[in-house]
Amino acid sequence: MAESFKGLHRTKRCAEFTKDDVGKIVTITGWVQKIRNKGSLCFIDLRDRTGIIQIVLDDTTCTSELIQKAQKCKQEYVLAVVGEVNLRKGEINEKIPTGTIEVIPSELRILCESEVLPFQLDQNAIVREELRLEYRFLDLRRQDLQKNLMIRSKASILTRKFLADEGFLEIETPTLCKSTPEGARDYLVPSRVKPGTFYALPQSPQLYKQLLMVSGMDRYFQLARCYRDEDLRADRQPEFTQIDMEMSFVDIDDVIDVNERLIKFLFKEICNEEVKLPIQRMKWIDAMENYGVDKPDTRFDMKLIDVTKECSGIEFNVFKNVLNMNNEDNKGYNKGCIKGLNVKNASTMPRKKIDSIIEYAKEYGLKGLCYMAIEEDGNIKSSFTKFLKDEEIELLKKKMNAQNGDLLLFAADKKKIVWQALGALRLFLAHDLNLIDENKFNFLWVTEFPLLEWNEEENRYVAMHHPFTNVMDEDLDIFFSNDPGLSRAKAYDIVLNGTEIGGGSIRIHDPKIQERMFDVIGIPKDVASRQFGYLLKAFKYGVPPHGGIAYGLDRVVMLMLHAKSIRDVIAFPKNKDATCLMVNTPDIVEEKQLEELCIKIVENKKD
Ligand code: AMO
Ligand code: AMP
Repeated sequence: MAESFKGLHRTKRCAEFTKDDVGKIVTITGWVQKIRNKGSLCFIDLRDRTGIIQIVLDDTTCTSELIQKAQKCKQEYVLAVVGEVNLRKGEINEKIPTGTIEVIPSELRILCESEVLPFQLDQNAIVREELRLEYRFLDLRRQDLQKNLMIRSKASILTRKFLADEGFLEIETPTLCKSTPEGARDYLVPSRVKPGTFYALPQSPQLYKQLLMVSGMDRYFQLARCYRDEDLRADRQPEFTQIDMEMSFVDIDDVIDVNERLIKFLFKEICNEEVKLPIQRMKWIDAMENYGVDKPDTRFDMKLIDVTKECSGIEFNVFKNVLNMNNEDNKGYNKGCIKGLNVKNASTMPRKKIDSIIEYAKEYGLKGLCYMAIEEDGNIKSSFTKFLKDEEIELLKKKMNAQNGDLLLFAADKKKIVWQALGALRLFLAHDLNLIDENKFNFLWVTEFPLLEWNEEENRYVAMHHPFTNVMDEDLDIFFSNDPGLSRAKAYDIVLNGTEIGGGSIRIHDPKIQERMFDVIGIPKDVASRQFGYLLKAFKYGVPPHGGIAYGLDRVVMLMLHAKSIRDVIAFPKNKDATCLMVNTPDIVEEKQLEELCIKIVENKKD
């Protein structure tokens, strides 16, 4: 049976003891990490979240009863030990902070026993993720996950401190909200009181924080829980946490200024990383043209190089067909283009590998990819140069900054597709060829996003960020014209090493612009008034210019820790099916609960 903890008081956590404690009688508590029985000698490594401390029992210092009791202990038993801190008699362990000391017990209580674990907690043990998630409470005893959650806690606490010092108020907003038509799919919560009606869990506190600005709160922040029913990836969870903020009487530079200082502060305190300010800014169009994505990883070069002009006279059908697109009524990002990547020193890449790269690019919508390998002796091996004149080859090489030994890859298609495919290929090649310095933290602001995006399926514009994002002052005329598609937004994303860690905007505070926005994205007046009526109502009563940003806290901590997935920085994450394997949810509920909610389950046609 478990022994009582009565009368004991823990002196400190296990790894907080140092040489300064030698000679003191202390009480330590924790889990048995390891036990070694050597006849009349017994070593126990006792562990808590700070680390381990060694307990030594031998027949010169301990009674035989005590040694026998210790020898009964097994892995993960919970113990309390009263004893004296001594300098180690045996081997010193430089690897751990308590490596020079040990505790000689006078009392040992077994506070709780443990069954044999379903898997080893050893850092190096390879364990199926499903099993780890089912036993997450044990998984969280692993040293790396304990460290991750401690760092996450530190990031939250420091964020609160920084923002409070900057005059932000921490204000909570509801989690039972109203469903809105834009954005990801909502998680819905049925109402019992008004059967047939639903709350939605917030995808973000966007409208509440804007209303707080209308209320005169001036500066707001919240570590907000957000819920989005979308397909999951390594950096996406159905519920996640935002560092969410909003500020009044600001424009883009004001928001960026506070946030750069927040980033600098957090990365210095947590990673001892000096972030140089100001952080680089890149316009969205430059990000797309040079990197193919709106969240460029700038830790390596290999930019997309436009060779449309250089290829305009080439008698090669694949290229000609694409350039002919431009004569058709193709606008904006549907225009044809030809772009290349220069993969430095890769001319010897085997044909098979090049073929696999071409297949990879095809997954992103390209019909093919041309290559030109310039061998060390200047010889060219290529899939398409037979169609080219010598001077055309030279022109291409020059534009691509090509040297002997380089491998050039070319894609021709609509801009959108070329961006998408070469953007993905650039990242794939960088990982494959080990071009990324994993110790770097490269921050980047992406600015001047398009305000609108054309949705082919719905045949209408949608807001690229959200429908409350303001248009750039310079583009107001375009926005109110018949062709608003080219207007740019006062929106900004903050990108770290190719991951979007945050995004925000200056909001519309002029009811006329807000109305025009709903109009442009095809939300009829009555729908706008039903969905967003409260916002439109508030906008009649004096709205300060305002703007803000939200970070994905999980993503920030993941990158700080070089973790592979945001699951590693979330205490109880969901798996790819948005299921929590530990508590087994989502789950069916009692018939009675459904009746109360007037909900009837119909046969699932999908199965
Ligand atoms: P946005 O939708 O860009 O903006 O979200 C802000 C940041 O939240 C993180 N994020 C996620 N993290 C984990 N799992 C997810 N499923 C997930 N979705 C988003 C990203 C992202 O940059 N209300 C606006 C912000 C604003 O305009 O102030 C918003 O929510 O890191
Ligand atoms: P095809 O005419 O389809 O046999 O293609 C001739 C060559 O051009 C092959 O090497 C293809 O991989 C390449 N190719 C086809 N489509 C494209 C494209 N859109 N962009 C670049 N190269 C392409």
